Amino acid sequence: MKRIFSGIQPTGNLHLGNYLGAVRNWVRLQTEYECLYCLVDQHAITLWQEPGELRAHTREVAAAMIAAGLDPQRNILMVQSHNPDHAELAWIFNCTARVGWLNRMTQFKEKAGKNRENASVGLYDYPVLMAADILVYKATHVPVGEDQKQHLELCRDIAQKFNQDYGRETFPLTEPLIFGAATRVMSLRDGTKKMSKSDESDYSRINMTDDADTIALKLRKAKTDPEPLPEHVGGLEGRPEAANLLGIWAALSDATLESAIARFAGRRFSEFKNELTDLAVASLSPITKEMQRLLADPAAIDAILRRGGERARELSAPVIAEVRETVGFLPR
Ligand code: TYM
Repeated sequence: MKRIFSGIQPTGNLHLGNYLGAVRNWVRLQTEYECLYCLVDQHAITLWQEPGELRAHTREVAAAMIAAGLDPQRNILMVQSHNPDHAELAWIFNCTARVGWLNRMTQFKEKAGKNRENASVGLYDYPVLMAADILVYKATHVPVGEDQKQHLELCRDIAQKFNQDYGRETFPLTEPLIFGAATRVMSLRDGTKKMSKSDESDYSRINMTDDADTIALKLRKAKTDPEPLPEHVGGLEGRPEAANLLGIWAALSDATLESAIARFAGRRFSEFKNELTDLAVASLSPITKEMQRLLADPAAIDAILRRGGERARELSAPVIAEVRETVGFLPR
């Protein structure tokens, strides 16, 4: 049986990249598979978070996920720190993963920047906790955006080495699920940079909380080039902003990039941006509205998350017991 796990950091509002690259796909998978979706607050604190903001963002991102269509009855919607089995397995995996493997992680290099000596140990160890998140439920598939691919390769390496070290097929070799027309949404200010919560400029991203005027303004200001839109895919070569905006249009309208190109071939950016704005507002504003409604009752969100945590612990308990026995810990 397939079991899906995925996570998102509650470090700020969801943006269009999170939505198109991940959350929207999660909604689509929920009818077919057993799914766990997790707000990874322990990952969030690998970079310092103001505690009140972390609490607020955790509820906000939960509300955004429900508003986007995730059904917390059908799925398990949970907070990472509500299930201590993740952290326990992460410690065991710290003894499986190799320093050389972590040294190759590009996200650590990007996030730590020039001052690597001053990065938290947690930031370095981040992908090991991520492997534990997934494998503590023996999840078989992980729907993510393109940027998480390397971390998922590490997860497979850890599973494989653990199975080999102890001579038992304990963990599955989890597969990434990367699909849709926007697996890597780029910044609106620079088509070569990923759209990200941590970008200093708010004009670089569309947040799920942006109102119609803000979305229109951000798209109007979005970087383009002087040429009209291309007639075929080859014409996107060297035009990252055009590729990004057409990719967003395709993803929002559930079409392929090719059909987006065919539709806007030879048109000016200004016309295309107007259509894109209408589409983005129509797609996002119902979600924003529902999110605000849900946030008016934080106790209800907390209850959903607490229940999700309980259900998650029921699933991980036998796995952690099996792992403890496998590595030679005494029963408790
Ligand atoms: P996070 O919080 O950075 O992002 C959440 C999801 O959104 C996707 N994403 C994007 N997709 C397309 N274009 C973008 N510009 C873009 N930006 C973000 C991410 O690929 C991700 O799917 N390490 C993870 C959280 C995590 C996790 C896990 C994921 C912790 N444990 C276990 C899967 C399984 C992260 O930081 O995601």
